[in-house]
This record gives sequence, structure tokens and C-alpha cells, in this order.
Amino acid sequence: MLQASLYLYALICTIFVHPALGFPVFGTPAQAKAALIRVKLIPDVFPKFDPRLTLGITYHVNGTALKGNLGTNLTPADTANRPVWSIPDIDFKREFERKTFVVGMVDPDAPSPTNRSASQVRHFIGGGFKLEGTVLRNTTPALSDYLGPGPLPGSPPHRYATFLFLQPKDFPTTPFTTSILNFNLSSFAEQVKMGLPVAGNFIMVGPAPS
Ligand SMILES: *[C@@H]1O[C@H](CO)[C@@H](O)[C@H](O)[C@H]1NC(C)=O
Ligand SMILES: *[C@@H]1O[C@H](CO)[C@@H](O)[C@H](O)[C@H]1NC(C)=O
Ligand SMILES: *[C@@H]1O[C@H](CO)[C@@H](O)[C@H](O)[C@H]1NC(C)=O
Repeated sequence: MLQASLYLYALICTIFVHPALGFPVFGTPAQAKAALIRVKLIPDVFPKFDPRLTLGITYHVNGTALKGNLGTNLTPADTANRPVWSIPDIDFKREFERKTFVVGMVDPDAPSPTNRSASQVRHFIGGGFKLEGTVLRNTTPALSDYLGPGPLPGSPPHRYATFLFLQPKDFPTTPFTTSILNFNLSSFAEQVKMGLPVAGNFIMVGPAPS
């Protein structure tokens, strides 16, 4: 009986979770919305969020793919290099296949979740992302190059939120010259008229062990 239930469990995991079978491993847009509201990224970063797509975050570390999904705990070493962003559920959303996207990543917990006086920190802003299969490849230089998470010693883990937008006409091409501190992603989104994100995801990163 036990053996039979274990077998059934393994079968269910294989069918629903195994990435090689092409099933989503990042959860649905509805799950992303619920999770971002639960950890208050909504409304801390955007007042509203009605995602239509799933945003995948995959870091490649020493030959291992680490998926960052709805609060995965990762280390500064894991996240030192820019991840690959993807839209794993694109098969279900053909209307988005030929679109151009903007990716924005911010830390709203700087210098710490209890003192957010330097928030948001701008960790990445870039446009010109186009789909190659399910992977988002950028075709233009970033406006704000990727900066890996580096919370100060003693701080609890920070929320690192990444949002995906449809790229508006006349999206800027000049890199930022302003400080990465005290950035405001929703006011930037308003300024460049890209509106609310179509997808979002987040990871948690604490300080590197000292
Ligand atoms: C990757 O490998 C190098 C060399 O072995 C090591 O120094 C580094 O800590 C590894 N990175 C992670 C995130 O494990
Ligand atoms: C909050 O952090 C800033 C540094 O960004 C510091 O100057 C300030 O004193 C801190 N405030 C409190 C209440 O700890
Ligand atoms: C960001 O800007 C919006 C206006 O676009 C404002 O409503 C919001 O309070 C700002 N957020 C922060 C954290 O300052």
C-alpha cells in the first residue's frame, strides 16, 4: 500500500513537475500575484499587479541551474551574475511571442527591511528583450547593468523583485547616470509609459556569511 502510494506520488511529480516534459515549473500568474501580495511587494513596489504571464528566473552557478521562484532563498554568491529570465508558459500565450519586453529588478528593503531609507535599489533595468523559445534575450544594452544582491551584514534577507513589462514606444536608450539608491520602479514605469507589469517574481537573499 505504502509502496503503491509512493509510486503514485512519484508519477504525479513526474507528470506535473518534470521540466523536461515542458510543464511550467514556476507557477501560474495567479500564484505569483498571491505570493507578491503576501510578502507586500504589492503594494510596496507597485500599487496593483495583474500578471498575465509567468516570469522565470534562473541563475547558472558552476554548471548548476538555480531557479528563483516566489521567495526562493539564494545567496549573494548564487546571484552574483545576471540570471536568465524566461517566460516558461509562452506556449499558452501566443499573443506575446513577438513582443519586446523590459525587465526591471529592485530591492525595496535597503539598507534593511526595517529601515528602508535607501529603497529602492535599482539592480537592473533593460529593454529590448525578445523571446527565443521561452528565454528572454536582450538585443540592446541595459540602461542599468545587473548588480548582484549584497545585503549588509546583520540585515535580515531582502526581497529582490523582478518585473516584466511590455516595452513601450520610445523606451529610453540612454543608460542611467543617477544613483542606484532611492529609485522608484513604479514612477519610472509611469514616466516611460510602460504601465503595470505583465509578470513578476522574487527571490530572498541574506548577507554573505562572514
Ligand atoms: C563556484 O566554484 C568556485 C570554484 O570552485 C567557488 O569558489 C565558488 O564558491 C562556487 N560558487 C558557488 C556559488 O558555489
Ligand atoms: C537607516 O539607514 C540609514 C542609511 O541608509 C541611516 O543613515 C539611518 O540612520 C538609519 N535609520 C535608523 C532609524 O536606523
Ligand atoms: C513611487 O512613486 C509613486 C508615484 O509614481 C508613489 O506613489 C510611490 O509612493 C513612490 N514609492 C516610494 C517607495 O517612494
